[in-house]
Amino acid sequence: MDRIEWESLPTTARDAVQRELGSPVKVEQIGDGRRSALAVVAHLAAGRVFLKGAPLDHERAAAQLGREASVNPHVLAVSPALVCDMEVGGWRLLGFEYEEGRRVDYTPGSRDLPAVLDALATVDGLKVPAGVDVQWFEGRWSDYAVVPERLPRIAGTALLHTDLNAGNVLMTGAGARLVDWGMASRGAPLVNPADLVVNLIACGHTPKDAEAVVCDLAPWRHAAPEVVDYYARLLATTWLEAFWTPTHPWARAVVDAAVRWAMYRRDRH
Ligand SMILES: Nc1ncnc2c1ncn2[C@@H]1O[C@H](COP(=O)(O)OP(=O)(O)O)[C@@H](O)[C@H]1O
Ligand SMILES: [Mg+2]
Repeated sequence: MDRIEWESLPTTARDAVQRELGSPVKVEQIGDGRRSALAVVAHLAAGRVFLKGAPLDHERAAAQLGREASVNPHVLAVSPALVCDMEVGGWRLLGFEYEEGRRVDYTPGSRDLPAVLDALATVDGLKVPAGVDVQWFEGRWSDYAVVPERLPRIAGTALLHTDLNAGNVLMTGAGARLVDWGMASRGAPLVNPADLVVNLIACGHTPKDAEAVVCDLAPWRHAAPEVVDYYARLLATTWLEAFWTPTHPWARAVVDAAVRWAMYRRDRH
């Protein structure tokens, strides 16, 4: 979705934010990220707030913001707290505590990786009550999977982030913080470390080295190798199909990474 400037938000929406948070001294556009129509940092007298938003008539984007808001109270151990949530002027707007940090470095030898593993270990211990609007992970793939009968292998009740691209992991003084829970799902615990593996490969790790990075995480250690094989193949085949047209360089990098990982898993046997 194309980004819009703060000034292009309807006046009613900007006024509502100002009533809730105070008048921003300055509003800074955020370049990173992909989905949200609005992503800005508001500098307020009391500090900074990260604001993201989408038009309500963009149903998918608005639903993702809704999910992000409902998951937030359950992920505070690794994520910034929601400070405002409003529907106004045809927009859904969320405000989060500002995290002073930078995007994670996933390249080989990065010193950020231990902190990312800590964050994933913490997520492994989090529970989200059944009523919270979180998608069933296996259901998200059902329209695309080549062998749908095997989808139950990635089902489960573990909390999954599912979009661990480097823009969604901020390195701060308090460790690695995970943002952008709009695609949060319930599924097999192995999916969080496996998604990190693909991102590490996309950022220059060999598949073997990427797996070595996550090898001590409990959900990885406990995963049956054939389930990991299946997930790697699922990513490779479905992403190749789904990302055939997008021209974003990241789409190419993750398709390449998923295919390389799947072929590495195959050759291990
Ligand atoms: N609480 C926060 N504090 C500071 N920066 C943030 C915060 N949340 C997100 N960001 C930055 O804004 C970018 C976009 O936010 P994100 O929630 O990932 O939205 P999108 O859906 O557009 O990817 C992130 O990649 C990150 O760089
Ligand atoms: Mg993002």
